[in-house]
Amino acid sequence: MNEQSQVNLKPGLEGVVAAATRISHVDGERGELVIAGRRVEAFAGESFESAVGLLWAAAGVTGRPVQVAGLPRRTERVLRDAAERGVAPMDALRMAAGTLVADEDLEAAGLMAGVFPTIVAAYARLCGGRKPIPPERTLGLAANFLHMLNGHEPEPELVRGLETYLNTVSDHGLNASTFTARVIVSTGSDFVSAVTGAIGALKGPLHGGAPGPALDTVFEIGEPSRAEAVLRGKLERGERLMGFGHRVYKVRDPRADVLDRAAAAMFEQAGDRQLYDLARSVEATAIRLLDQYKPGRRLRTNVEFYTALLLHGLGLETALFTPTFAIGRAAGWIAHCFEQRREGRLIRPDSVYVGDAAV
Ligand code: ACO
Repeated sequence: MNEQSQVNLKPGLEGVVAAATRISHVDGERGELVIAGRRVEAFAGESFESAVGLLWAAAGVTGRPVQVAGLPRRTERVLRDAAERGVAPMDALRMAAGTLVADEDLEAAGLMAGVFPTIVAAYARLCGGRKPIPPERTLGLAANFLHMLNGHEPEPELVRGLETYLNTVSDHGLNASTFTARVIVSTGSDFVSAVTGAIGALKGPLHGGAPGPALDTVFEIGEPSRAEAVLRGKLERGERLMGFGHRVYKVRDPRADVLDRAAAAMFEQAGDRQLYDLARSVEATAIRLLDQYKPGRRLRTNVEFYTALLLHGLGLETALFTPTFAIGRAAGWIAHCFEQRREGRLIRPDSVYVGDAAV
């Protein structure tokens, strides 16, 4: 027996409990998510400001509600340069987050939560050759995001749809990006560094980078009759179906339920059910084929599939899906930073050496 098989090696850390948290609870067997003491279905109905306040209160921090913030000049300079070079929006958000400076944790928290919508909207406009629009103090964070993107005050149902989304994805146990943030704070480092690192972790296609490709697949399929052939082709080639499968959920992700309902309401209102109906049919075919190709794996719809549909319905370009996810998840990252700062311990797991014997 070699050394590797003697230790309890868990390269993906599955089943390893590395934090006690009051911020959220994920039950992957029952398909339940509790955020700040509320079921996700109820939490989704809060304003985004209130959701942020509840998350931070769960981490033991109370204060003024978060307010939208304008772009610091140095941040705008970085974004302008990134737009000229055609940098991808998640990389631009990471670069912009790295320009933020705060003297202490609470200031960093308020600054990041307040300025992320401004950064993402400004970058989208700069990439389209348009001038950034400053925030409107009378509007909340979600309404401001749409206002700064589109240049007009958004319809209330669009704001509600966006708040539903941001709240739903704001926290989710010890997911990869939240873990990243906690590891960074656990070394005694600062919140801006922690959140900047978390943005990098969220970007990957196995985490927050999935909704764009998930929507691309729906568009590639185009009509329900083609779903079987296209999805089967992907599975035959060994590709993963984006928006399906989850490390923790073995049933349909409860966030997919919330976002599915929000997307249905939005597409109903806009009088365009076609895309929604197509997505439902793609989902049903995908689940059937995943059961066939990966029996026993229990691969079900995750949050990203209906994220794609909802954000598309809100008029967002695909490139903005993951940065918009970051706006919502930043609230949770920061809550975990507070909790880690107060209660955590340096996170430093072990490894097993499988290299050559020393000479
Ligand atoms: N499509 C096809 N096969 C899949 C999928 C999928 N979406 N997901 C998992 N599998 C297969 C794997 O190929 C593997 O098969 P094998 O045992 O025959 O090799 C088996 O199911 C188990 O997969 P793992 O990678 O071990 O599962 P893990 O828990 O690590 O992965 C993950 C979870 C990364 C989310 C995975 O399901 C996936 O890649 N999904 C597609 C990407 C996606 O939707 N990501 C968003 C997740 S939600 C979020 O982070 C906000």
